[in-house]
Amino acid sequence: MERSTDMPHATHIRNPVQAIAWWQHDFRRMLSARVRDAQLGFRNTWYLGALTLGTFTIQVSTGLLLMLYYHPSIPQGYADMKDLEFVVSSGVMLRSLHRWSAHAMVFLVFMHMAKVFYRRAYQPPRELNWVVGVSLLLATLLLSYTGYLLPWDQLSYWGTTVGASIISSMPFVGARLRFYLLGGHTVNANALLRFYVLHTMIFPLVVIMLIAVHLWRLHKDGGMYEPDEQGKPILPDHIPAEDDLFRGVENEKTLSYRELLFREIIGIEALAVVLLSMALIWKAPLDEMANPLHTPNPAKAPWYFTGLQELLHYFPPFVAGIILPVLIVSGLFIIPFVPFFDDVSTADLCRWARDKSGRTITIAIVMLVLSALLIRIHAWDALLPLWIVVTLLCLAGRTADQQKGFRNWVRSRSLSFWIMTLFLMEAVMLTSVGTFFRGPSWTWVWPWRG
Ligand code: HEM
Repeated sequence: MERSTDMPHATHIRNPVQAIAWWQHDFRRMLSARVRDAQLGFRNTWYLGALTLGTFTIQVSTGLLLMLYYHPSIPQGYADMKDLEFVVSSGVMLRSLHRWSAHAMVFLVFMHMAKVFYRRAYQPPRELNWVVGVSLLLATLLLSYTGYLLPWDQLSYWGTTVGASIISSMPFVGARLRFYLLGGHTVNANALLRFYVLHTMIFPLVVIMLIAVHLWRLHKDGGMYEPDEQGKPILPDHIPAEDDLFRGVENEKTLSYRELLFREIIGIEALAVVLLSMALIWKAPLDEMANPLHTPNPAKAPWYFTGLQELLHYFPPFVAGIILPVLIVSGLFIIPFVPFFDDVSTADLCRWARDKSGRTITIAIVMLVLSALLIRIHAWDALLPLWIVVTLLCLAGRTADQQKGFRNWVRSRSLSFWIMTLFLMEAVMLTSVGTFFRGPSWTWVWPWRG
């Protein structure tokens, strides 16, 4: 759609009414652009980014209401939680909605990252948006972690203490960093105030700014990712004009941004109904008031850090708390900038390994050493994902070039696919074990046996 001639020229001085009309015109134009279903359809993104945005909106609105009742001081903070439960009308529902929506946001942000990764939507020109995304992932975790302390009950106090001791295991700077974060050497009133400021002001502002950049980049990079016929991403200067988009694919369904927005809002509303129902059925937990003299056994971190706690059970704090997380986070940041991992398929690897028996033996030895290390430290839960991935790789290695179906699919996966799959499987496994299967002194328990 062209700008109508009665629209003022951009360089003319405009009165506010003209300016609003202009913006309205541009906004409508943006929302009415026709786009192919393949680009905006549900299958492409499962609307996970939009759903994450939905949970963040719920967090901000319920968080603002909670701020009306909460004082970041001891013991008033805990008393306010009790008041929300017994005095404030719908207070318990408000608190529970904020809590379940926070969990949903962390879960959805991981799902969104995995979906973006498996679609390879991080490839140019979207590599910087991927970097903004990884920053959003970290900011989301920090936002959630800082909120965890505010109820000031045993769970939150000791969960935060565990997290702070992980930070202090960092060489050279750890102790100082922990001191700045807590405002002292222990989790106390200073820490509560600092976490309150971080949770209600600094991290929400960081997340809002990052989301603004994320969505602006999404628009600038040509909207949602869709590969061309060769499976390569379409670069911005190759993005066809709107008319060209439909040449040769006249029969394909089309969507407009307006329709997409409508669908995504329906999705967000459905999610809000689910979270609201959860808040009405299940109350957010509130333990006894924090008691620094009584350590619960086990003292567990929030669920998204129990995987890390599980690693701490096996490895020294410096390895589990610092080396591995730093490797994982830097690995996530550099994914789009190391095309080597994308270009090497399992088939290439197998061909390379088959060339000389020595190479196969090298790979086998590396896997055996890794397995032996995990068996030696009794890390059976970490061993299982490794063996599943190795089994699939062996299956691919034994698959002939002409094979069809699942085995061919396994053969054609890239090296980066396997690295991410192993990372996600390990994360799910360690988090589940840490959350459900660990009891006093971090011993193994069966959850159904109480
Ligand atoms: C608070 C967290 C986040 C929010 C609110 C958010 C929001 C969105 C939205 C609304 C979209 C449009 C597509 C969709 O609906 O799925 C999107 C796309 C995208 N996101 Fe996120 N996102 C977040 C975190 C992340 C993370 C953690 C990553 C990766 C590490 C990431 C990487 C991307 C990329 C590369 C795209 C473009 C994908 C495409 O072109 O299809 N985002 N995001």
